[in-house]
Amino acid sequence: MKFFIDTANLAQIKEANDLGILDGVTTNPSLMAKEGVKGQDAIMQHYKTICEMVDGDISAEVVSTKFEDIVEEGKKLAAIHKNIVVKIPMIKDGIKAIKWFTDNGIPTNCTLVFSAGQAILAAKAGAKYVSPFVGRIDDSGWDGMELIGQIAQIFDIQGYKTEVLVASIRNPNHIIRSAELGAHVITSPLDSILGLLKHPLTDIGLAKFLEDAKKM
Ligand code: E4P
Repeated sequence: MKFFIDTANLAQIKEANDLGILDGVTTNPSLMAKEGVKGQDAIMQHYKTICEMVDGDISAEVVSTKFEDIVEEGKKLAAIHKNIVVKIPMIKDGIKAIKWFTDNGIPTNCTLVFSAGQAILAAKAGAKYVSPFVGRIDDSGWDGMELIGQIAQIFDIQGYKTEVLVASIRNPNHIIRSAELGAHVITSPLDSILGLLKHPLTDIGLAKFLEDAKKM
């Protein structure tokens, strides 16, 4: 399972990349705004900087919602770097645009996916990734991981090449469950990735080893 970090924060991207386990980055307009990235030139430069930091797929999201505009915007994003994946929302024009990019050899990530039906459409259009938002589903009282299991099973049965990219991760358990269910990728905030490191018995065991090492 690939590990992407879900942020536009350069320090956090560097910290995750330095761990040596990072396979890519996902961003969205909210995450870019959070970092104070404003204006077309600054946005393009920020994506370029991320691409130069991490050798892997970097999702850059369009903010257009009409087919022609999505294609124009996505072409500009894809021109920034060979590793850019154009992130496109799950709307009718988005599906048309995903098909256009697929036919033109540009990889896409279909975002804002909340149902198996949406995931099937994205796969049919040829998206490289489909991003179901587990945390937001949990927040609304449903079970996000149940959807991951359902999509993973459908993609397996149908032989779809589209990868299931689990998004909107809120805790380390979302990552573990994603691995159990056969997801291809998770995109996570840094704290949930680092949360995988933690176990109290590791801390207790290490303290004892270090204590005993003084007697060696
Ligand atoms: C997906 O790529 C999105 O950027 C992200 O995972 C959304 O997560 P959130 O629900 O925490 O905003």
